[in-house]
Amino acid sequence: MHTAVRTSLPETELAGRAHFAPHARVAREERQEERRARTTSLPLSIRALRKSFGDNEVLRGIDLHIPAGQFVAIVGKSGCGKSTLLRLLAGLDKIDAGSIGFGQDIQPEDIRVMFQEPRLLPWARVLGNVEVGLGRDRASGDAHARAEKALSEVGLADKRDQWPSVLSGGQKQRVALARALVSRPRVLALDEPLGALDALTRISMQRLLERVWRDQGFTAILVTHDVAEAVALADRVLVIEDGRIAHDVTVNAARPRQRGSAELAGLEGSILSHLLSADDRT
Ligand SMILES: Nc1ncnc2c1ncn2[C@@H]1O[C@H](COP(=O)(O)OP(=O)(O)OP(=O)(O)O)[C@@H](O)[C@H]1O
Ligand SMILES: [Mg+2]
Repeated sequence: MHTAVRTSLPETELAGRAHFAPHARVAREERQEERRARTTSLPLSIRALRKSFGDNEVLRGIDLHIPAGQFVAIVGKSGCGKSTLLRLLAGLDKIDAGSIGFGQDIQPEDIRVMFQEPRLLPWARVLGNVEVGLGRDRASGDAHARAEKALSEVGLADKRDQWPSVLSGGQKQRVALARALVSRPRVLALDEPLGALDALTRISMQRLLERVWRDQGFTAILVTHDVAEAVALADRVLVIEDGRIAHDVTVNAARPRQRGSAELAGLEGSILSHLLSADDRT
């Protein structure tokens, strides 16, 4: 069954974390060791999931199994419920009916969400912003080291002491990615994380995202408006329509993928035609 989790910006973690008993520290550090030992990704099983807002029935029976470690992209026209689905599976909102399971009990650190806007804390330096992603482990002895490592993974080690305000849009998103990765999530949910970036920065972020996914092996669920991005990154593209998964398209192209290849362009074209025909019917 579903266990509530926090976003990559757990505001409630910001207060009262500095004080805890020494035995709690030991227990926490043991738990961290345990986590590092099991960096396994999680599978997801969604059954008959429904969600309405008032009389607006947004999700009308989502059935979906995502194997551990798969990279799934979700596309669909604006307002079809992509963000709603992501929020439900990240435990940020309550389901009305159905179930979301991960095959086992999960910890808050197991699932992280990255949003379109970086949501950095303006009063904390870059390293401090990344440490926020550690949640309960933020006060542990190796928090700095772990945050530095996450920053290196996104190529921003040299920005650790900067304020967020001096970073470019792409750099801010890389900090947000480091914050999401620092707890070694087993599922990373991404809601149009690259939507506000220029084309070149976007491609370089896509490559970064693919690299960290390959290195760390988490299950990735990416909501995007960009079908080319979906087929470039994902193992599988889901099209949401009328509150259900209308198409489930496997992308078998070998990695690293050749953007613009005939194979990807063909898949992109067929997904776009699904989307456009759905649009014509409304
Ligand atoms: N908190 C809320 N209260 C009321 N209605 C909501 C709420 N959140 C979402 N909705 C409604 O649910 C529907 C789906 O919204 P959602 O944000 O999931 O769409 P989306 O597919 O992510 O769209 P976009 O591509 O524009 O981001 C919309 O009609 C939206 O107005
Ligand atoms: Mg959305």
